[in-house]
Amino acid sequence: MSGVGQSLPHESAEGHATGRASFIDDIPRRQDELLVGLVTSPVACARLVRVESTAARAIPGVIAILTAQDIPGATHFGPLVQDEPILALDTVRYIGQPVAIIAAESATALQAARAMVQLEFDTIAPPVLSIEEAIAANRFLTEPHVIARGNVEAALAKAPIVRRGVFQCLGQEHLYFETQAAVAMPGDDGQIQLHVSTQGPSETQHVVAETLGKPLNHVICTTRRLGGGFGGKETQANLTAACAALVTQHTGRAARLVYERGEDMRNTGKRHPFRVEWEAGVDASGRIQGLRVLLFSDGGAYTDLSPSVMDRAMLHIDNAYFLEHVYIEGRVCETHHAPATAFRGFGGPQGIATMETIVQELTLALREIPNAPRHALALQQQNLYGRGERNSTPYGQIVAENHLPEIMSMLVQESDFDTRFDAIEAHNRTDSRWLRGMAVSPVKFGISFVATFMNQANAQVLVYPDGSVQVSTGGTEMGQGLNTKIRQLVSGVFGIDPAAIAMMATSTDKNHNTSPTAASASTDLNGAAAVQAATTVRDRLARWALQQWAPGTDAPTSRVSFAHGLLFDHEYPERRIPFADACAAARFARVDLGARGFYATPGLHFDRSTGRGAPFLYYTQGAAVAEVCIDRFTGMVRVPRVDLRIDIGQSINPGIDRGQIIGGFVQGLGWVTTECLMYDPNGAVLTDSFCTYKVPLASDVPPHFSCHFHETDGPAHTVARSKAVGEPPLMLAVSVFSAVRHALGCVSPAAAQRLCLPATPEEVLRALSLAHVPFSHDDAMRWQHSASIWQGTSA
Ligand code: MTE
Ligand code: HPA
Ligand code: MOS
Repeated sequence: MSGVGQSLPHESAEGHATGRASFIDDIPRRQDELLVGLVTSPVACARLVRVESTAARAIPGVIAILTAQDIPGATHFGPLVQDEPILALDTVRYIGQPVAIIAAESATALQAARAMVQLEFDTIAPPVLSIEEAIAANRFLTEPHVIARGNVEAALAKAPIVRRGVFQCLGQEHLYFETQAAVAMPGDDGQIQLHVSTQGPSETQHVVAETLGKPLNHVICTTRRLGGGFGGKETQANLTAACAALVTQHTGRAARLVYERGEDMRNTGKRHPFRVEWEAGVDASGRIQGLRVLLFSDGGAYTDLSPSVMDRAMLHIDNAYFLEHVYIEGRVCETHHAPATAFRGFGGPQGIATMETIVQELTLALREIPNAPRHALALQQQNLYGRGERNSTPYGQIVAENHLPEIMSMLVQESDFDTRFDAIEAHNRTDSRWLRGMAVSPVKFGISFVATFMNQANAQVLVYPDGSVQVSTGGTEMGQGLNTKIRQLVSGVFGIDPAAIAMMATSTDKNHNTSPTAASASTDLNGAAAVQAATTVRDRLARWALQQWAPGTDAPTSRVSFAHGLLFDHEYPERRIPFADACAAARFARVDLGARGFYATPGLHFDRSTGRGAPFLYYTQGAAVAEVCIDRFTGMVRVPRVDLRIDIGQSINPGIDRGQIIGGFVQGLGWVTTECLMYDPNGAVLTDSFCTYKVPLASDVPPHFSCHFHETDGPAHTVARSKAVGEPPLMLAVSVFSAVRHALGCVSPAAAQRLCLPATPEEVLRALSLAHVPFSHDDAMRWQHSASIWQGTSA
């Protein structure tokens, strides 16, 4: 009955389906409420000379127009480096950058004012829009950062086969259903009450307080649920929230700022594009001898989370493989795009896709060696982390509880890999229209925030005299099922029906100093804190009950069991009382029925300067086999079959976890195949609608999709022995990209080598059309994704 381990429906499933679940823009409008809109920069790189708003201010219904000069507190913000202006001061650095805030009484007035505000610029220089241009212009947001082990020079010099290449991937638009949204209201005594679609209410509170020049206790940020975040609201909800709060501060009225879809797609940051220059050596048995990688990401115009995303990419470049001699260097480029930000996987996908590409390139290289392994799978198995040996990562953390070897072999079996692989290669020799490919990708994803201090959470549990319970944590519900899982965990502690537990809105006046809900760790963190708080109340109830049954006893509270909605003494099972009755009586007896829990992940340490430590509590591991079918005439990629196997420990809610796995995989499928961000030569996002930005549809979900939970005991030290599931499945979709490369490799090595990520039809067609033109390392250094090369006319 407690529900842990059961597939309870998502707490808002019905609300989501019926439309009754309330999001930010569903909050009823107050009578004094103002609509807020932003005036953003139409140019990517210029000096801002003047904002002319006199005419706009005169429009009836326009209440305020604010610029950087109207900010009473800090003018800049940022999670790591406070280098991003809330409103542009003297320069603009990307198209869509906020310059002025308009507050109006109606949408018509807002629109009219927007058209009237005039921005005057001095154009400084043409924008830098790619990693390659940024490198050439020496524009970086960070210094190079290194993680290294062994002697790569020597290892590469000795290796019988050495290959060099460049891996490139583009960004990804979050496309959460609910766009960035915030409502600010004046509170009591100079306070501000915010309702924000944010993954990090505490960070939103901080940014708003600093912008307004208020102490933290004067800003309350509340979040009931998000219509998706996917990392896009880890830091980037703060800007819109601060703009709404500024209006409330200036006018004393409620203020609502909700981006339209196109605004959201143009103004906000996305997943980081990467360029990785690599050199790898392998021996004839397929063992990797040495690897050197140079990672560059496109961080956009300001720092945001880019150094942390780069760290995670560097910490995942090994993916599932032991690398004895390795040199990893990463650096974030500065360009004139919106600041790139967190996106499901947080650099992990870029690191893992690089490594899988390298494995495939080495497989192609080994074709020249007699008796060498012919399939990528053989290379993968040859290099997988071992058990008890070959199990330390480049940064020195031991891959404990390594299930990858058996996950891989079971998956190969259950997907009938060998037979299908041979059939596919045979097919490709004869069919002139349909090209097929198949690949397996393992994934090992480190769980915990790389920044150790962020691995903490608190929770509050309130028990009422009728036996009903309210739980609040600092975690935010964005569709991933966090609240449902916490409800199950708490119901397990009290032995009551999960329906008796209400999950309350996340709010900084109940749960403060929290980390954003991110890094897939929020059940691990908030769930543990909630269990701790509930256990405190349970112990008090147990002590009270024992005194009722045996006054003066010093029996341990563990003698009282909580199950089936009852408290009972398991030495004298006739001593029992319904949970609700116990709560009512204990309250009358002045027992405290509320508690707070706190959890900090134990044992983590990572020294960024030496690149060594154990930053992760554990790894979520899995693997996927993908089969693709490519139309050689159009370049279109279809995915008829996926088989995957993932170790998520003991699942708290298998139904929700299955949803996360399939949803995450399909989101990754979009990143590697169809989602293609395009910019015009001035740096404007061209793909700013569902018409031009192609996310997977329900009809793109592979018709054969088998998803196995790999059965293990789960880690001894996580809540209910569960493992994080939110991000890892996205990276399993790298198998689809590898399968496309495999298919192209059947045509010629050069076709595979030219493929950048995503494998859009244009990209695949280009690779096929140049299949018989050899591709040298020099070519690779200059090569760019087909979408980077704008074919149209300049605006
Ligand atoms: N699932 C849904 N439905 N909506 C989301 O926004 N975000 C993902 C993942 N799954 C997301 C989601 C991301 S980026 C992360 S980090 C995790 O959920 C965060 O939640 P968790 O820690 O509870 O897994
Ligand atoms: N993952 C996700 N979000 C983060 C991290 C991380 O490791 N660090 C800071 N924000
Ligand atoms: Mo997820 S990218 O860690 O919000």
